[in-house]
Amino acid sequence: MKVAVLVGSLRRESFSRKIAKTLIALAPESLKLEIIEIADLPIYNQDGDDDGKPPSAWTAFRKRIKEFDGVLFVTPEHNRSVPAVLKNAIDVGSRPYGRSVWAGKPGAIVSVSPGPIGGVGSNHHLRQSLVFLDVAAMQQPEAYIGGAANLFDDDRKVPNESTRDFLRKFIESFSVWVRTISGSCGKII
Ligand code: FNR
Repeated sequence: MKVAVLVGSLRRESFSRKIAKTLIALAPESLKLEIIEIADLPIYNQDGDDDGKPPSAWTAFRKRIKEFDGVLFVTPEHNRSVPAVLKNAIDVGSRPYGRSVWAGKPGAIVSVSPGPIGGVGSNHHLRQSLVFLDVAAMQQPEAYIGGAANLFDDDRKVPNESTRDFLRKFIESFSVWVRTISGSCGKII
């Protein structure tokens, strides 16, 4: 199974990106994860689609996401919500109306913060959008990664065994989730 990973931060030393890379390294053989870059997607404006002239970056992104069996969001929290860069990517993929690239895909959310509550606001606002977008977001285990500034060593690796263990269990559960949902979601109704 192939999973697109969307990282909600553009920061060079982003903790979210480091967590995404750790999850990729810990994933079982059967789950291939790939980070899809979202930095260069122009801000969504419906005129582009209505005029039949969407920016090429939107078209390429939509085509690319369709190739994946699932989607994993690894994101910080901005002002208790989803960072604009990630929301924009979600919006771009959701349009034109009726041709969303997200519908029926299994998904999961990992929120990351240097603060103590692990980006729970971002995680749940994103979850709300995924309900509308018909992305089957894994409920358990939930992943709110707090204290992110202290998780990594100089090699950007996670040395703490219990954190690695949690991340390994999360991505193994997601692998089962993708297999379970894939092929059934969206065909029930
Ligand atoms: C933040 N940050 C933040 N953190 C948090 O836990 N809750 C929040 O609501 C916010 N709000 C917020 C808004 C904006 C505009 C910025 C730039 C930052 C801090 C944020 O968690 C911190 O910068 C992380 O390091 C960002 O994630 P990456 O870049 O490390 O992945």
